[in-house]
Amino acid sequence: MNAREHARRRRQLMQQMGEGGIAILPAAPERQRNRDVDYPYRQHSDFLYLTGFPEPEAVAVLLPGRPQGEYLLFCRERNAEMETWHGRRAGLEGACVRYGADDAFPITDLDDILPGLLENTERVYATMGHDPAFDRRLLDWINRVRDKARAGVTAPVEFIDLDHLLHEMRLIKSPAELKLMRRAAEISAAAHVRAIRACRPGKTELDLEAELHYAFASGGARHAAYPSIVGSGANACILHYTENSARLRRGDLVLIDAGAEVEGYAADITRTFPVGTRYNRAQRAIYELVLEAQHAAIAAVRPGNTWNAPHDAAVEVLAEGLVALGLLKGRPRTVISKGTYRRFYMHRTGHWLGLDVHDVGDYKVGGEWRLLEPGMTLTVEPGLYLPAGEKGVGPRWADIGVRIEDDVLVTPDGHEVLTSATPKTIREIEALRRAN
Ligand code: GLY
Ligand code: MN
Ligand code: MN
Repeated sequence: MNAREHARRRRQLMQQMGEGGIAILPAAPERQRNRDVDYPYRQHSDFLYLTGFPEPEAVAVLLPGRPQGEYLLFCRERNAEMETWHGRRAGLEGACVRYGADDAFPITDLDDILPGLLENTERVYATMGHDPAFDRRLLDWINRVRDKARAGVTAPVEFIDLDHLLHEMRLIKSPAELKLMRRAAEISAAAHVRAIRACRPGKTELDLEAELHYAFASGGARHAAYPSIVGSGANACILHYTENSARLRRGDLVLIDAGAEVEGYAADITRTFPVGTRYNRAQRAIYELVLEAQHAAIAAVRPGNTWNAPHDAAVEVLAEGLVALGLLKGRPRTVISKGTYRRFYMHRTGHWLGLDVHDVGDYKVGGEWRLLEPGMTLTVEPGLYLPAGEKGVGPRWADIGVRIEDDVLVTPDGHEVLTSATPKTIREIEALRRAN
């Protein structure tokens, strides 16, 4: 993504902050996996959104209207020895030239410089409560400014949660963001096709995970957006199953929930297919029902509908179907009002999608479900889970787990399914299973 997009976002945020405001935003810390080994570094999504800066040990400061420069970046200095061991750094010059900072300072000077920047500001915009150590540092800087009161220096008097402003911005995707989300969707669709084709009885769930991750990487996505779920048989009924270790058995279904990350942007796709070449009758009935629920939910994605409309649409279809198949007793309306469908459908129908797979943005405004607007992106992912032993699950239904998940953009006149290149109908999926 080019630096102009990040500059535009900073301008938009600074307009909302107004003069007298200061925003302070730390980069994500590195996290240790085990001795001498860190987890792969992932920048904090808010920080990435505003700066595009990929390194740890950095703090971004925005000072709208400051004549000497509005955007300051504290970061690591270049250091030949450290870079030989650990990799390249942008350094202070790179922070300005490549990442658009008006000025850059060594991160080691943060405690010396930051109190001066807080002098005579009125409002501090920061994220509080997520990083206690950083919160304490911020209060310490503010106290240092307060100590200068008798010298006529004023300290900020208002503290405003930066999350809310930023997350409302992140909720509506720009054309540049949608381009990356489309690429993530395209790579992920190809990965699902690859895994579906590669499936064979006797292989393992891990073999299919390897196919997915090969396709992500060769498509240009270094990382998965979240740990890939490859659950066969009873494992398909474990919502966040990530062991991915079981052997694939003919007659079972495999549920794959996996998506690539492209420049921080996630795709999130689920498909459920047979280990053999065909769904059996019971699997087919459940699959058709979940697919019908997904169609109904996707049809409810349009501006002016509430966030909850797709969920309600899916639940209506699922409740009717569960009663018709004899899995639940009573009238569909009662199944909905009493919530008994939750025995088999215990999660919601989707979530916002973006830089975080479960992206930011409020789902309710003023106590009411918010209205969908063009530029919002969400998943639509109904499912049914019928583990053996659950009340009402006879042998023919035992251990069927089906989820179907796509990524959907709200457009001015309805929606666009970003992941529509991923085969989804029984006919398409069985054709792929045979085409080996
Ligand atoms: N992959 C996590 C989810 O579908 O929400
Ligand atoms: Mn998913
Ligand atoms: Mn999802």
